[in-house]
Amino acid sequence: METDFNQYFRKSLLKLKPYQSAREEFINDGRKMILLDANENPFETSVNRYPDPLQMELKSQIAIWRKVGLEQIYLSNGSDEFISQIVMGSCEPGMDHIVIVPPTFGMYKVAAATFGVSVKEIPLTSEFQLDVPSILTAINEESKLLFIPNPNNPTGNSFNSNDIKTLIENFKGLVVVDEAYVEFAKTPSILPLLNNYPNLIVCQTFSKAQGMAGARLGMAFAHKELISFLNRIKAPYNINSLTLNAVLRKLKEQEQVKEQVADLLKERALLEAALKKVQWVEKCFPSDANFLLIRVDNSIHRYKQLIVTGIVVRNSSKSLGCENTLRISVGTPKENNILIKVLQSLDN
Ligand SMILES: Cc1ncc(COP(=O)(O)O)c(C=O)c1O
Repeated sequence: METDFNQYFRKSLLKLKPYQSAREEFINDGRKMILLDANENPFETSVNRYPDPLQMELKSQIAIWRKVGLEQIYLSNGSDEFISQIVMGSCEPGMDHIVIVPPTFGMYKVAAATFGVSVKEIPLTSEFQLDVPSILTAINEESKLLFIPNPNNPTGNSFNSNDIKTLIENFKGLVVVDEAYVEFAKTPSILPLLNNYPNLIVCQTFSKAQGMAGARLGMAFAHKELISFLNRIKAPYNINSLTLNAVLRKLKEQEQVKEQVADLLKERALLEAALKKVQWVEKCFPSDANFLLIRVDNSIHRYKQLIVTGIVVRNSSKSLGCENTLRISVGTPKENNILIKVLQSLDN
């Protein structure tokens, strides 16, 4: 059956005429043109011109890398921008809602709040897995978006892949599988199944394994109709030239990224073994990402003790089901050794 993609978008945005940037109004046939159309400063500085609004050069490399069509890629100023755009584009404020599965990444709720969109929260099970029956019971016509971070943040585990598929198949709105930590995961990406599911959007980021958090680049992959809609509602120059060039270079350094990921996974195992020997660490949760969630005797006390020694971790205790937990990113071998020594020296 043909999918009606308009069902996924806010009705009021369907007729929106996108802003047309000056450069989009002519087709460059390769000749060197005199560019007097965008009120730029003509003197060369390497960034005096506006960047390509549709980032075609970078997307053509990402298409090969991720084995998807060029028209199935949307680039954003970090995944955070994509998350805001998809909430804004698909949910009617005051009417529709998003569905999240706490403990979960905090930005989904923030994005919803900024657009006046309400949030339905269906907690994970005690094993931090998706509660599929409860989600399917709770959703209705106004459930426009379901966010599944896989691996999850702050818990670090991956979800059962059959549960994710069941949800995509039964959810009437769009399902965002947020794979920010996918490079660290044993569980494979769902991206090869993109063409099976018209309502699936997979998002990934250059902020984690790719080591470019400061450059801000997120990627969303979906059916070309969904991508075309996202392109219509975005700010024309959301990705700057410095980031475009830096990411093009990074794509040529994937061997180094793989080595770093392998090193970080080894370091995570060492850290996990050390944490399990610390008396006041009650539990170290299994992780498929570059961080570990631990349950401790008193998270505020331990957090403050670490700050005194010059180490900042995340107190994740406010997340549902994460009372008295700390989330610790895996650092360099040197940083992790210091952390382990400090952990061992703290009182019991
Ligand atoms: C699950 C998840 N999604 C998205 C992001 C945000 O990524 P970006 O830096 O690309 O905005 C994070 C950052 O911590 C995250 O944990």
